[in-house]
Amino acid sequence: MSKKLNQIEIKKRVKSDSIVSDLIVLDQVGSTQDYIFENLDSLKDGAVVIAESQSSGYGRMGRTWQSSYGKGLYMSMLFKNVFSSMKYSGFTMLGSLSLCYYLRLEYGFDFKMRWPNDVMFEGNKLAGVLANMRDGIIGLGFGVNINQDLSELPDMATSIFLLSGEEVDRNIFIPNFLNSFQKDLGDWEEESFRHLRKLWLDFALLKGKEITASTSSGIIKGTVEDITEDCGLIIRGDMGYKVVLSVAELIKIR
Ligand code: BTN
Repeated sequence: MSKKLNQIEIKKRVKSDSIVSDLIVLDQVGSTQDYIFENLDSLKDGAVVIAESQSSGYGRMGRTWQSSYGKGLYMSMLFKNVFSSMKYSGFTMLGSLSLCYYLRLEYGFDFKMRWPNDVMFEGNKLAGVLANMRDGIIGLGFGVNINQDLSELPDMATSIFLLSGEEVDRNIFIPNFLNSFQKDLGDWEEESFRHLRKLWLDFALLKGKEITASTSSGIIKGTVEDITEDCGLIIRGDMGYKVVLSVAELIKIR
């Protein structure tokens, strides 16, 4: 079992001017995402909730997020007063791009961001990011496979431990990532779309790739060209037409 989460250790490494207003470490929770929305009155803007395990952690499209005790990062962050759907879609993408950037810098692997919310390594999923919005309030959830071995992961997933062969101290990983995320959030606020697009161009798995996607209006095939300001995927179809995907499930990438 890896070292337990320690609130004091994490807090002491978070920058003094951090956006993290409060840090709550739980042993066991249903989902840190739900915890945030169930405790809105007592939690301040910028509160971060981390758990050793989740009994019903979930991802996009209601998929289960496997949350084995003491091994991964299961964390949600609260942003009050967002009130913009443009910002809402930006949050998921900023979260996954920022995580991808941090992981590449820290561990040196060629991690890629898979639209709209995954961090991948050679076809296996390392991390996922989820933004939920209610009444202008956003819960931004991060799930990262850190110290899990193969038996603790779903198919087509990997962990930092499996890739590097070394255990990661989550009490260092978490504050370092929060500090790095704060920088990206600041740049995003200043430069808005330009910053997101730069990160996307650097780390996107899909740029220039041929994809097949399932959407509410059917199957779409084409080549990924770019992203839109609200983080849709711009696809050039076989017949030369352009389509923007906002919500879609990627079935095939070539
Ligand atoms: C995805 O891959 O679709 C996103 C996964 C997000 C998982 C994290 S773990 C912390 C937070 N609590 C949850 O229930 N989900 C997110």
